[in-house]
Amino acid sequence: MSDARTNLSRRDFLGAMTSAALLGMASAGPTSLAAAPLASDRRVRIGVVGGNFGTQWQWHLDPNCIVEAVSDLRPDRRQYLQQVYKCEKPYESLEKLVLDPKVEAVAVFTGAPDHARHVLECFKQGKHVISAVPACLTLEDARKMKEAKERTGLTYMMAETSYYRWPTILARQLWKEKRFGRFLYSEVEYYHNMIGAERDGLSFDQGKRTWRYGYPPMLYPTHSTGFHVGVTGERLTGVSCLAWGDDDPALKDNDYQSPWCNQSALFKTSGANICRCNVFWRVHSDGERAPSCPSRCAWPRVTGTPTVSSRTSSSPPWSRTARRPWTCTRPWR
Ligand SMILES: NC(=O)c1ccc[n+]([C@@H]2O[C@H](COP(=O)([O-])OP(=O)(O)OC[C@H]3O[C@@H](n4cnc5c(N)ncnc54)[C@H](O)[C@@H]3O)[C@@H](O)[C@H]2O)c1
Repeated sequence: MSDARTNLSRRDFLGAMTSAALLGMASAGPTSLAAAPLASDRRVRIGVVGGNFGTQWQWHLDPNCIVEAVSDLRPDRRQYLQQVYKCEKPYESLEKLVLDPKVEAVAVFTGAPDHARHVLECFKQGKHVISAVPACLTLEDARKMKEAKERTGLTYMMAETSYYRWPTILARQLWKEKRFGRFLYSEVEYYHNMIGAERDGLSFDQGKRTWRYGYPPMLYPTHSTGFHVGVTGERLTGVSCLAWGDDDPALKDNDYQSPWCNQSALFKTSGANICRCNVFWRVHSDGERAPSCPSRCAWPRVTGTPTVSSRTSSSPPWSRTARRPWTCTRPWR
């Protein structure tokens, strides 16, 4: 498949995106990657939008990539993006960046509720897209994105970190080699204490609430489901979910009208297996992991890095001060 406007083949784009993701993993862990021979010397010109989590990638180091432009609504974040990606072309907004004919693909790392709108805007301007998770918040937006992707023939990739963790990659390979017997059951979990709460620093920016304020846990399922789906390729075909909320003010009044901070779902899967999935914002635990119980050969215990301590000294300053001053520090850290 080839896009007429950019003359960029699907294989070129996926190859470049995959090596970018692998480079991301290499920087996240102690294991080193042997340099793989390049499948192509084609260099994709990418625009990076979102100067917080969007600064934690390595497109400028990828031999198949050129960071053509960057953008954030905030000047300080725009400058930080320029500094990280050594890019001399800043735009004031995604809407302006996508008009640049030199940009072939866009990395959308804006807030979750904006992803669908921004991805559709990129498709409209003929750009391939990689976006942060979640892809979208409603089935209606999912339909629109799927329709636009299929109509344009452009590529969409969701940057789900759990899919690219080393143990997930290994388990995916073992599953492909049929080492597990029947899969039977997985437990997949994402725990991020206090996110979205009244006292969460990430839920406020310059005194104003951000999209994270009161954000419902099950609108952020893919750090968990990415393990089961990412290993087996199964679809989740049915669900029963319980939810729990406390008396935090963020659960009384938020944009999502959500009173919940912890949700626990039991999925049935297209392979007739079971997936128990937790997403908790109030919990004495941290990170992403996935123990499982196959009938033969236990899979490598998939454990993600703790969400907050994974922020390194290369993280932007605004993500290092993630807690509001009056928040209790976590005694187990
Ligand atoms: N492990 C992971 O996969 C992981 C970790 C952290 C965040 N995320 C995801 O990444 C995304 C970004 O998270 P974050 O913490 O950086 O959010 P954030 O709200 O701190 O940053 C989003 C940025 O997008 C900018 N923005 C919004 N609209 C824009 C526009 N039209 N043009 C240009 N810039 C625009 C904002 O100014 C803001 O700086 C979220 O969807 C989040 O779910 C994923």
